[in-house]
Amino acid sequence: MKDELLELKTRVLKKLESVAERSDLEKLRQSYLGRKGFLTLLLKRLEELPKEQRPAIGRLANQVKEELTEEFQSVSDSLTRKDAKEVSALDITLPGRRTPTGHLHPITQITEEICTIFVKLGFQVVQGPEVELDYYNFEALNMPKDHPARDMQDTFYISDNVVLRTHTSPMQIRIMENTSPPVSIVAPGKVYRPDSDISHTPMFHQVEGLLVDKGVSFGDLKGTLTTFAHQMFGPDTDLRFRPSFFPFTEPSAEVDIRCVVCQGKGCRVCSHTGWLEILGSGMVDPEVFKIVGYDVESISGFAFGMGVERIAMLKSGLDDIRLFFENDIRFLQQF
Ligand code: PHE
Repeated sequence: MKDELLELKTRVLKKLESVAERSDLEKLRQSYLGRKGFLTLLLKRLEELPKEQRPAIGRLANQVKEELTEEFQSVSDSLTRKDAKEVSALDITLPGRRTPTGHLHPITQITEEICTIFVKLGFQVVQGPEVELDYYNFEALNMPKDHPARDMQDTFYISDNVVLRTHTSPMQIRIMENTSPPVSIVAPGKVYRPDSDISHTPMFHQVEGLLVDKGVSFGDLKGTLTTFAHQMFGPDTDLRFRPSFFPFTEPSAEVDIRCVVCQGKGCRVCSHTGWLEILGSGMVDPEVFKIVGYDVESISGFAFGMGVERIAMLKSGLDDIRLFFENDIRFLQQF
């Protein structure tokens, strides 16, 4: 019987080692220490023993029972600790985790800001194709096939007559073709040129503007663009209209604002000129009016085109245009 007791103890201890669930522990307790358990039944058989053996075996039996009871308790305790850990890993009182929501890209934000200013001045927002016919991108803008002005705007050709537009100016033609004057539109969108460096990306954004009516003068162009610059960069911003050339405007002017970084003293951002170019503009060339069938005698108009990235960079003091398109969330979140 002594051997039986010791063997039973070893067996139970072994089984306890692999218990992982409280229900298994309870089953094991029932089958050994329970009312009809092995140990209980064994103890009942004490009476069958010769009298002189009973005390010693009885002591051993009690000792085994005590030891096993203690072991059951310690396994039970460690299960409790494990449960507690699992509960704390799943703390239902913690606040929920918010799914991060994005926001508009900084370039989209600035595009909307630009358009909003012109909408308040009475312009209408229109959009057109990025894959454009050579005719709209060049030809109808007074840039015939062999015109040297095309060199400045070399582009990606889809086929001989289909290109990725190099500017938003084709929208001037598309709108005038379909509308009789007066016309006042702004056309935001993507444009493409094969340049890539710190201040050029092969894809960038422009906002085009066109206003055609009876008696539109260069004064109207100046007033409109000055109002725009004051709204965009602040009412104290100085402007400079610099004579320039575009095949589809005559006369043409590039517009600079006083450097927002050094206030005109001269710095790296403005290449020590004190001025920053923000857009190209001019009075619509009569040749363009003729192409779309407008009566050059009774109307006139102005047009302008600005680079959105450039304006965004000036507003936020950035010096590398590529940041906008690297999609680094740490950069984008700052807007
Ligand atoms: N399309 C010209 C460019 O991309 C800008 C421009 C637009 C100039 C309208 C004059 C009038 O450089």
